[in-house]
Amino acid sequence: MGVAIIGTGSYLPYLKLTNFDLENMVDTSDEWIVTRTGIKERRICPKGKGASDLGLEASLMAIKDAGIKKDEIEFIICATITPDMYFPSTACIIQKKLGLENIPSFDFQAACSGFIYGMEIAKGLISGCGYKKGLVVATECMSRLTDYTDRSTCVLLGDGAGAAVVSENEENGIIDSYLSSNGKYENLLFTPGGVSLKPSSFETIEKRENFMKMEGSTLFKIAIYSMSESVNKVLERNKIKKEDISIVIPHQANLRIIAGVAKNLEIPIEKFFINIEKYGNMSAACIPIALDEAVKNGRIKKGDLVITVAFGAGLTWAANLIRWVK
Ligand code: UT7
Repeated sequence: MGVAIIGTGSYLPYLKLTNFDLENMVDTSDEWIVTRTGIKERRICPKGKGASDLGLEASLMAIKDAGIKKDEIEFIICATITPDMYFPSTACIIQKKLGLENIPSFDFQAACSGFIYGMEIAKGLISGCGYKKGLVVATECMSRLTDYTDRSTCVLLGDGAGAAVVSENEENGIIDSYLSSNGKYENLLFTPGGVSLKPSSFETIEKRENFMKMEGSTLFKIAIYSMSESVNKVLERNKIKKEDISIVIPHQANLRIIAGVAKNLEIPIEKFFINIEKYGNMSAACIPIALDEAVKNGRIKKGDLVITVAFGAGLTWAANLIRWVK
């Protein structure tokens, strides 16, 4: 028996924050944002809602798409850097909202690479631990970590959730995953305050340390290199030619990063699925949302070879090689 994705779902909150809205908030312009990043607008989770609410909607859609009953779900794993709260896990909260009980549910985080790591964890649970079907959810409220006085980061981020039902399957779908990280780059992308090292205090709030900090231009170069390396690794070790890849689902951090990866890999940019203009960077949620849109738009069909590839805080980077089985 193999392991495969049998259903996908995604959910974007209704509220939009456009480049023109941001022009009224910080010293920026639609022209700068579009030419430097490719982003036109992003979605914002309404007040009073959190990552579990977005994740729940994406999960319900993935379960429906898989054509299964929700009680067939035997585990829930959730990739998020913006959980509802420190604890309990957002996975447990989604479990409660789905009305499921007595199955393992837990969060893990690999920042923007989270969903790709999640595919490998789910595959391990199914092929090594006897589970049959599980839910991988990636849900992010990046707006909650965003400093809307910092023009170098606030134009980039948005909120959303994506989910996939992963199942044992006659044909193997999750063929291989390359996962990597290097903690020596922790200070290039991080939120310094608010947890155990620097708990929230007047000082952390005053210094805006509860918001994301980023060294954009250094990350930019590492992103292109590490995403290209991840794709090359999964292709090489599975002896797959670039021409055999139907579609690449890249992390949506910057259109110029995606173009740089395409150029490096010598894979035509047309093979990359791009939706960054609508949503910006939603960390771990980017890949499953793009995957779901690509499937629903007919860009992915049964038998296609799909590459997912991401890069993010940690730093982490990763790629999946997937055969679409439905
Ligand atoms: O999720 C994965 C992790 N994140 C990433 O991978 C992000 C990677 N980095 C990037 O996408 C890009 O580096 C950014 C979009 C963040 C920045 O683009 P850049 O082309 O690297 O710009 P820069 O940081 O080199 O800044 C160029 C100029 C600066 O002005 P001066 O010093 O040349 O006068 C910035 O102050 O652009 C200025 N700038 C802005 N101007 C208008 C920075 N942000 C803005 C802004 N609007 N929003």
